[in-house]
Amino acid sequence: MAMAAPHPFQAVLMPLALSLSLALLCSSNVARAQTPVFACDAANSTVAGYAFCDRAKSASARAADLVSRLTLADKVGFLVNKQPALARLGIPAYEWWSEALHGVSYVGPGTRFSPLVPGATSFPQPILTAASFNASLFRAIGEVVSNEARAMHNVGLAGLTFWSPNINIFRDPRWGRGQETPGEDPLLASRYAVGYVSGLQDAGADADGPLKVAACCKHYTAYDVDNWKGVERYTFDAKVSQQDLDDTFQPPFKSCVIDGKVASVMCSYNKVNGKPTCADKDLLSGVIRGDWKLNGYIVSDCDSVDVLYSQQHYTKTPEEAAAITIKSGLDLNCGDFLAKHTVAAVQAGNLSESDVDRAITNNFIMLMRLGFFDGDPRKLAYGSLGPKDVCTSSNQELARETARQGIVLLKNDGALPLSAKSIKSMAVIGPNANASFTMIGNYEGTPCKYTTPLHGLGNNVATVYQPGCSNVGCSGNSLQLSAATAAAASADVTVLVVGADQSIEREALDRTSLLLPGQQPDLISAVANASKGHVILVVMSGGPFDISFAKASDKISAILWVGYPGEAGGAAIADIIFGKYNPSGRLPVTWYPASFADKVPMTDMRMRPDNSTGYPGRTYRFYTGETVFAFGDGLSYTTMSHNLVAAPPSEVSMQLAEGHACHTKECASVEAAGDHCEGMAFEVRLRVHNTGEMAGAHTVLLFSSPPAVHNAPAKHLLGFEKLNLEPGQAGVAAFKVDVCKDLSVVDELGNRKVALGGHTLHVGDLKHTLNLGV
Ligand SMILES: *[C@@H]1O[C@H](CO)[C@@H](O)[C@H](O)[C@H]1NC(C)=O
Ligand SMILES: *[C@@H]1O[C@H](CO)[C@@H](O)[C@H](O)[C@H]1NC(C)=O
Ligand SMILES: *[C@@H]1O[C@H](CO)[C@@H](O)[C@H](O)[C@H]1NC(C)=O
Ligand SMILES: *[C@@H]1O[C@H](CO)[C@@H](O)[C@H](O)[C@H]1NC(C)=O
Ligand SMILES: *[C@@H]1O[C@H](CO)[C@@H](O)[C@H](O)[C@H]1NC(C)=O
Ligand SMILES: *[C@@H]1O[C@H](CO)[C@@H](O)[C@H](O)[C@H]1NC(C)=O
Repeated sequence: MAMAAPHPFQAVLMPLALSLSLALLCSSNVARAQTPVFACDAANSTVAGYAFCDRAKSASARAADLVSRLTLADKVGFLVNKQPALARLGIPAYEWWSEALHGVSYVGPGTRFSPLVPGATSFPQPILTAASFNASLFRAIGEVVSNEARAMHNVGLAGLTFWSPNINIFRDPRWGRGQETPGEDPLLASRYAVGYVSGLQDAGADADGPLKVAACCKHYTAYDVDNWKGVERYTFDAKVSQQDLDDTFQPPFKSCVIDGKVASVMCSYNKVNGKPTCADKDLLSGVIRGDWKLNGYIVSDCDSVDVLYSQQHYTKTPEEAAAITIKSGLDLNCGDFLAKHTVAAVQAGNLSESDVDRAITNNFIMLMRLGFFDGDPRKLAYGSLGPKDVCTSSNQELARETARQGIVLLKNDGALPLSAKSIKSMAVIGPNANASFTMIGNYEGTPCKYTTPLHGLGNNVATVYQPGCSNVGCSGNSLQLSAATAAAASADVTVLVVGADQSIEREALDRTSLLLPGQQPDLISAVANASKGHVILVVMSGGPFDISFAKASDKISAILWVGYPGEAGGAAIADIIFGKYNPSGRLPVTWYPASFADKVPMTDMRMRPDNSTGYPGRTYRFYTGETVFAFGDGLSYTTMSHNLVAAPPSEVSMQLAEGHACHTKECASVEAAGDHCEGMAFEVRLRVHNTGEMAGAHTVLLFSSPPAVHNAPAKHLLGFEKLNLEPGQAGVAAFKVDVCKDLSVVDELGNRKVALGGHTLHVGDLKHTLNLGV
């Protein structure tokens, strides 16, 4: 979604008089915001008698009845997010655009806070949640967020359709929206999407059954450049090979639709190989609805239909833009473009009315599954949820727990955990040391409350606070700097909280450098050199930074990355620093050296390295250069040992059908589908032993390195499993490995193939090779 100028909607400067009258309107909304919006009010017998209100009928029969009652002029109103009221059928206006990236958000106009519900639980940004590598947590968060969303819906403060999560691959470390995503790995992003969406939607086994709220996986596809050195997402043409598309960009969307049964997919602003995604029939009707069988609606970004006409000049007329998007499979337009141009498009013969019917039918069925056409939601499932269910102490505790589970310990010379008893004074320094709003990132809502790092640490020991810089931009101020070094010189221990905020990385703003902003490195060095006691460096950011100097410095005892940790971030940081929680987060992205940003254009979408030009490739699966920290890095206060207790034999062969070409010629790989895949699965089990002194959670990351054919990744994640272990305790992490599904790679044409030869399974230093033959 576009949040900042030059968005076609928001780039409008509002005259003062208008904004005042809007403010008055809003306050009268607040007063009225007690009752939900719904159609098919049982109290009105005319309305209750319409077949589309008959709950005994199927959603598609009800939608067909409703469509049959509409004129073309009525219909086009149901193609846009701000759906107008249709009084003659008792249908109130509905706003489709709500957001819940990491908690119910005020960003979409369908949701707002009021004195009745002044805030909602604000979880960490997804990049930190992903670092927990805890799939059941992803779902648990979705359940809490949808409880709060339904509670707000029941008092007229929120819609039912939430355009979250953002599951684009965090392909380039500079991307301003990387913070919104679950990181760079397709498997982790897929698991996150399935977990969070399932928690939000609470769908039953019936494919057309009811939903708690509707989620949306966005932005489809290959969208991960916002605004880099003047290249803007509105006109960027992502040149993506079929191999990278099927291997990297599509898997999270595919899992979200097939396994997560998501209600919606949003097409993006950018073009892919010359075509705007919202006008690409192969991608929308072909892949999402055809191959993956989306049971829901496809929505545009806001307003990407307008963008493809007026900025990309992809069609000559607005009618053609309306026609091509709807005919490609678009059902709903965030924006008003389709409401304005679709009637003319039908009249010009660019589009038939039945195409419009298909789109609005998908939208109506979705609203039916959400109960919008079932009368008062307070009398239905989830009807008892209300303001008392928002910001409950257990919801807020889950926000704190999520931050604890995600925070990554990147360095520790033994100084951590600190013992509060042996510390008389702590200097808390840095532009993010007392961060509040910064902690909740973007696509935020008003949180229940904030616990800043200063506050969280101060609950344990006496603190002295010095910001060191006026803001994260840190332009340098010698008075602030000397106050900071003086504080560090006299305190028993120093915690430096640095990093970024939305002024450095956000929607519509990518970075150009991987170094910490402004004078932050100088602040860190000066404070580290002046400090009397240990120095703990805390990096609060979405994207990675090159902090090699701090990693190498003897003056810096420990480093934590805390993402944007949500409303309870400061409490979680203190829990970790003081050893109330043993860190278990692992990096969900590669931390590259600063030189990466000088050498590699952000706009180069290629995942694979090209040795002939020195292009290093991207993400841990392909990148060939040095890293500052690697994907999966993360330390603990305890030690864990692994050993293999079940593994496949070292020689495994597949039975190819008679007459298969690979019986007579030497093949490097075989198709990852067919009879020869039947039964080709085995278990890998690892015993994990906590050999240290402290209880802790441990994530087992199982990787595979396939044979080097089809430009395969150097390694890729097959699965992850997280265990809680007491000191001395052992547990087992079990993985089912399906040869065709999990060991296959995508070939140059986008087909999945199983490479023949040696596949090495590895967890840390532990390796097991199986030789796959035919
Ligand atoms: C019942 O609904 C119909 C259709 O929306 C409307 O015309 C009528 O005024 C409503 N009746 C009452 C009593 O509200
Ligand atoms: C749309 O309709 C106009 C007017 O009938 C026609 O000139 C144009 O070729 C049509 N465009 C498409 C893409 O069908
Ligand atoms: C820290 O931030 C909180 C919340 O924004 C604010 O109320 C408080 O005054 C700040 N503390 C200091 C010491 O500046
Ligand atoms: C501390 O001071 C030394 C000597 O001036 C310098 O080389 C180093 O970079 C400084 N910073 C850190 C973080 O050690
Ligand atoms: C490219 O270079 C990397 C690092 O030097 C090396 O590991 C890799 O095997 C090379 N790849 C090819 C296809 O030559
Ligand atoms: C995963 O998260 C859930 C929900 O917070 C928690 O109960 C569980 O202990 C976590 N698992 C591990 C291994 O930390």
